Amino acid sequence: MPIPQSFLDELVERSDIVDVVSEYVELKQKGTNLFGLCPFHSEKTPSFSVNRDRQIFHCFGCGEGGGVITFIMKAENLGFVDAVKHLAARVGMTVPEDGDADTSKRRAQVLTLNKEAARRFHANLYSPGGRRGLEYFYSRGLTDRTIRRFGLGWAPDSWDDLLGGIKGYEKSLFLEAGLAVANRKGGLYDRFRGRVMFPIIDLRGEVIGFGGRVLDDSQPKYLNSPETIAFSKSRNLFAMNLAKKSTYPAMILAEGYMDVISLHQAGFSSAVASLGTALTDAQARLISRYKQEAVIAYDMDAAGRGAAERAIKLLEDAGIKVKLIDMAGAKDPDEFIKRFGADALSARLTQSEGHIEYRLGTLRGKYDLSSDEGRISFLHDAAEMLAELSSPAERAVYSSRVAELAGVRAEAVADEVAIARKKKAGKERSAERRRELNPVAAMQPKEREVRYSDTKSARAEEGLIRCMYSDGELLRKAREALPPEQFSSETLAKAYSAMLEAADEGRAPSPAIFEGRLTPAELSLVMKVLMDPEPGGEAAFLSYVEVVRAGYEQRQAPDDLVERWQKLKKTKGWEDKEDGE
Ligand code: GTP
Ligand code: MN
Repeated sequence: MPIPQSFLDELVERSDIVDVVSEYVELKQKGTNLFGLCPFHSEKTPSFSVNRDRQIFHCFGCGEGGGVITFIMKAENLGFVDAVKHLAARVGMTVPEDGDADTSKRRAQVLTLNKEAARRFHANLYSPGGRRGLEYFYSRGLTDRTIRRFGLGWAPDSWDDLLGGIKGYEKSLFLEAGLAVANRKGGLYDRFRGRVMFPIIDLRGEVIGFGGRVLDDSQPKYLNSPETIAFSKSRNLFAMNLAKKSTYPAMILAEGYMDVISLHQAGFSSAVASLGTALTDAQARLISRYKQEAVIAYDMDAAGRGAAERAIKLLEDAGIKVKLIDMAGAKDPDEFIKRFGADALSARLTQSEGHIEYRLGTLRGKYDLSSDEGRISFLHDAAEMLAELSSPAERAVYSSRVAELAGVRAEAVADEVAIARKKKAGKERSAERRRELNPVAAMQPKEREVRYSDTKSARAEEGLIRCMYSDGELLRKAREALPPEQFSSETLAKAYSAMLEAADEGRAPSPAIFEGRLTPAELSLVMKVLMDPEPGGEAAFLSYVEVVRAGYEQRQAPDDLVERWQKLKKTKGWEDKEDGE
């Protein structure tokens, strides 16, 4: 019996590839990837690399590559099922043996029911009976657009609005979905009554649970769905479905539903919150899949500060750079925005972002400043950090701060910074030159069978695949924008189709979707492509689409035209830049 996809997804999510590989290989960060000596072939210089964001590995030497399951299959020499069992044991999960087809069917039914419930809650809000709920949201400053964006709703003060109103489902499913509660006699009634409703939506857009708030001061203020086969509080974050698409470089972590919604409405689209519990390790890892930085915007009370301390530790353990936002003057982000406005919050965010003092402090802690050697190393690293600052005024201010710390003259620091800036500019220039001079041969994949015929288009196809791999929205857009036939590389076209089809089945991109569809050489190429850094985003995506389309149209040009062009080139002695060397 096949292992259910939902189990595999969860297993892979809980088995961070960096952690798993680190048990076999010593990895060191180099650029966006981690590198180490390949466990699958013998080598002296590291060409085995791991990408944390995309959860894949690839060896530039022997070409092996894939996801965490493939890694274990090779490292432990196991078949697929045994590799899954091996990984499951590692994180304390049990591979479902029987009845799992049932479980995944049941889970799908719960999700469908949840979606219907969310629709009904939302519709209630705009019906006469839901006026109180709508007024409540308005009174908290939410616009209709925000209400729609978050799918907010209203559960009337009734024992059976949902149970009676949604037809065509077994009653027990309402219980299983956490939408109903059983009384002592086994009778069912609606869990959420007289509350405004906040649907909790996962990364794939499924409604997995709800939070509901009373309109007055009664208790409990918030009521959340219980844990169900579709809902795990500790592994999901409120608004992650929206935040993952945000281009803001840092994830903003708030405590409550209303904080997150206010933040989004004010333009801070990367805000998320844990679901009424403290941040968990799994949530920190989830964040690390999308952002390398986080800003904590917890309440300013003692409880909030304590929670922030613990969150900082978890986030840092997950490899995320953390900053705290100073919200002095308000108790939480929602109130801050109401009182001082979005611009003021933006200013506080940038302050927390620069946070140069903080970074200098960290740097200082790394060296023994009582020794000459320590002071020189500190000076050197600090100068490199300050060289990144674009404002001369800032550079000057912090240079004198560093001078103070290191006990040298301010001019000496300024000189060091100037040198670091020159070096940095030089490095950028030569990287650019290298890119320009890069001969076509070096840009070709190593394996013969996957060679590119149209290098320019193939580079854009590679970019497209990277963009789509980490952004489901772009995946949907790609389907409309570009049929696979327009790709120049057969391998990349196959990878592209595999991603589109997986999306149809509701599966998020992972190395597993390529398995069985690509030859080893093809898989190796695709993994290598996914290892490259990618700024991504809509603009990059659109320009890639343009390039691929243009390439396609050019290749469609009538043969004699191409021939004539080539003859002309020869007689005139013109050379294609790319065919040069
Ligand atoms: P508002 O009063 O609506 O602004 O809420 P808030 O978001 O400021 O709430 P608060 O800071 O009190 O709580 C933060 C988060 O903790 C909420 O969003 C809930 O997820 C959770 N929470 C608060 N009160 C309760 C409760 O009574 N029960 C449960 N289960 N969770 C709660
Ligand atoms: Mn609040």
